[in-house]
Amino acid sequence: MDRIRIVGGNELNGEIHISGAKNAALPLMIASLLTEEPLVLVNVPRLADVKQLERILENHGVDIAVHGRRRGDTEMGGQRITFTASDIVDTTAPYELVSTMRASFWVIGPLLAREGQAKVSLPGGCAIGTRPVDFYLDGLRQLGAEIEIDAGYVLARAPGGRLKGGSVRFPKVSVGATHVVMMAATLAEGTTTIENAALEPEVTNLAECLVAMGAKISGIGTGRLVIEGVEKLDGAIHEVVPDRIETGTYAFAAAMTGGEVFLRNARPELLQTALDVLVRTGVEITPQEGGLRIKRNGNGIMPVDVETDPFPGFPTDLQAQFMALMARSSGVSAIKETIFENRFMHVAELARFGANIHVDGQTATVTGVPELKGAQVMATDLRASVSLVIAGLAARGETVVNRIYHLDRGFERLENKLSRCGAEIERIAG
Ligand code: EPZ
Repeated sequence: MDRIRIVGGNELNGEIHISGAKNAALPLMIASLLTEEPLVLVNVPRLADVKQLERILENHGVDIAVHGRRRGDTEMGGQRITFTASDIVDTTAPYELVSTMRASFWVIGPLLAREGQAKVSLPGGCAIGTRPVDFYLDGLRQLGAEIEIDAGYVLARAPGGRLKGGSVRFPKVSVGATHVVMMAATLAEGTTTIENAALEPEVTNLAECLVAMGAKISGIGTGRLVIEGVEKLDGAIHEVVPDRIETGTYAFAAAMTGGEVFLRNARPELLQTALDVLVRTGVEITPQEGGLRIKRNGNGIMPVDVETDPFPGFPTDLQAQFMALMARSSGVSAIKETIFENRFMHVAELARFGANIHVDGQTATVTGVPELKGAQVMATDLRASVSLVIAGLAARGETVVNRIYHLDRGFERLENKLSRCGAEIERIAG
C-alpha cells in the first residue's frame, strides 16, 4: 500500500487549483441513470471514488466516455465525461461493488424511478458512525415503493412500475436521503414535497442538473423542495461545483504552516462559516477574481470553539482538519461533532504528533502545544487522513501517513498540489 512521506516545517506559498467536488460529482453521475440520453459532466475530479462509481454504473449498462483535451484546458482542470444509460440492463447493485462506498447506495433512487425496481446492497463507506438508511427507505415508501430487506440487500419495487408523488419530511437533515428522494421524485407520477431537505451546495448542484435535464423542481437551495414528476428526462451538460471541503482543507493547511496561498476556483459562499472561523484564528482571507487568497497574519493561531452543523454551519467534513490546526493554537478550544457519533478516530493519531486532545462524548477539548513532532500515522477515513497530512506539514521532522487509499478516494493530486507550494511531501509506492 502506498504511503505519504512529509518533512514538516515549510511554509506554503503559491497557488492551489481546487477540483470539482467529489460529493457533488458522485450524485451527478448517478443522475445519469434517470435518462436514456447522454449526460455530460464537466469538471469531474480524478478520484478513486469516481472510478469505483464508474464501475457500478457500467454494471447497470451505462456507457462512459472520458473526453480528450480541449483547447484552453489546463493541466489541473477536471475531466469532461459523458454518461449514457440508453438501456439499463441490470437493476442490481451487488455487495462487491457497493460495499466500499456509501454513495453508491444512492443508485436505488434512479433505478426505482426509471425501472420500477432495484436491488441494492446495504452500504459500506467510511467508519464514522452507524450511518443507517432508514430516512431513504421511509422517503421512498412515501413515494409508493414497497421495500423489503433480505440477506443484506434492499429490494424495492414501485407497484405498477412507477412511483407516485408524496410528502416526505426527514426527521434530521440528510444529504444522501435528499439526493435519493429528489432524484426518485423527478420521474414519479404527481407532486412530491420534501421537508427538512439538506441545503448543502452539492444538493443544489444536483437539483440544478436535474432541472437542466427537464425536471420540475422548485425551492432549490431551501429546506422545502417541491418536485412535479415528469414522464421522462433528457440529457444535459452540467458542471460540478468546486470542492468546498478541499478548499477548507488547503485553507487550514496554509493557516497551519504560514505563508500565502491562492486557492484558484474556490468559492467563499460554499464555506462561509468555516472561513469566518478561520479569520478568528488569525488568518487573512481575501476573495479575488477566480478564487480566494489565504494568508496567516503574524500573531500565531488563536483558539476558536466550533460545532459541526448541516450547511450553512461548520461542515463535519472539515472537523478533523480543524482539530489539527487547533492542536497548534495558543490556547484551548472545544470542538463538538453533532452529525456523526463516531468521528473522532483522528484524535489518537493526532496524539502521536504530541497533540493534547481530550474527548468527552461528542466534544473534543484541544489544548494547543507550541510544537508538533513528526510521526508514523494512519487513518480510518478520508477527512481524518488529510488532517494527519496537515499536522505533518507543520510538525518538526518526518511524518509517514500509512494507508493512504482513503486520501486517493477524495483528494486529487494531493502531494502534487502541496509540493508545488513548497511542502516537502512525496508518495512512496507500497
Ligand atoms: C454526506 O454523507 C457526505 N457524503 C459525507 O461526506 C458528509 O459527511 C455528510 O453528507 C454530512 O455532510 C457524500 O456526499 C458522498 P447524511 P451522507 O445522510 O449523505 C444520519 C466525506 O468524507 N442518517 O447527511 O451519508 C446519519 O447517520 C463524507 O466525503 C440517518 O440516521 O450523510 C448522520 O448522523 C463522509 N438515517 C446524519 O443523518 C439515514 O437514513 C447525516 O448524514 C440517513 C442519515
